[in-house]
Amino acid sequence: MTAQGGASTRAQAIARGIARLAKAGVPEPARDARLLYRWAGGIDGARFAAVLDNPAPAPELARFERAIAARAARTPVSHITGVREFWDRSFLVTPAVLDPRPETEALIAAALNGPAPARILDLGTGSGCLLLTLLAEWPASRGTGVDVSAEALAVAAANARRLGVADRAELRRGDWCGGLDGPFDLIVANPPYIAAAELAGLAPEVRLHEPLAALSPGGDGLDAYRCIAAGLPPLLAPGGRAFFEIGATQAAAVRAILRAAGLAVTAVLPDLDGRDRVISASP
Ligand SMILES: C[S@@+](CC[C@H](N)C(=O)[O-])C[C@H]1O[C@@H](n2cnc3c(N)ncnc32)[C@H](O)[C@@H]1O
Repeated sequence: MTAQGGASTRAQAIARGIARLAKAGVPEPARDARLLYRWAGGIDGARFAAVLDNPAPAPELARFERAIAARAARTPVSHITGVREFWDRSFLVTPAVLDPRPETEALIAAALNGPAPARILDLGTGSGCLLLTLLAEWPASRGTGVDVSAEALAVAAANARRLGVADRAELRRGDWCGGLDGPFDLIVANPPYIAAAELAGLAPEVRLHEPLAALSPGGDGLDAYRCIAAGLPPLLAPGGRAFFEIGATQAAAVRAILRAAGLAVTAVLPDLDGRDRVISASP
């Protein structure tokens, strides 16, 4: 069906897009097709419903159809649009970084539920979503983001400029706690934690498009916690706080690792789905 002498309406184009994504097994085809149409047309959410029945301009339609083809091939939405929302801010995302996840916002909520720190350390900063969000929320804080990946650090640096916090963010290449000078009042980390045996079962968007170094340290998935816990105590200020994202089944194991390193585990906190997601510790 077409409108006004043969042109597809936006609604018709979106309906075709939904059908194509559903056929490709994309988990939420309607949400993704609508989001990609808004991106292709540069149409903001408030205006979207009002323009759905208008004919789709050819360049907009072509851009949408390319996006649908990429999504049907299981490219993540953020790799098509180049951005991802996290804690109400827009972060640049490339294949060099982990796509910031909604469940990681549980760590931000936990950290913000405490005093503003003078110095923050973010281990495995990736897109910078943890460090840069905290710097944006706490305008007097300064922070360091560490990553082993130079490509990831370039994305984090671009995000720091976009959010206006670059003058308070030091981004450095490194291997977890190595070569850092403390003390830091707040240390956060969302390390790679997927066990090697679980990689094959991940969705194609994750398995084929996100960096392996951001997903898994290999083995049982706990090696990054072991390395971080071993190096962290001298970096954490007296009275300081540390927060780690964990996999839903890892609370007991990570608690034991942190305790063995001499840290006091203060809480295990859930994400919005009620799964264990964040573990907090103090000196
Ligand atoms: C799960 S991602 C987290 C990214 C971001 N902090 C977030 O929450 O979305 C883990 C990050 O740790 C980095 N990483 C892996 N091994 C590392 C190491 N030995 N030292 C420092 N960073 C490392 C990866 O490059 C990746 O950016």
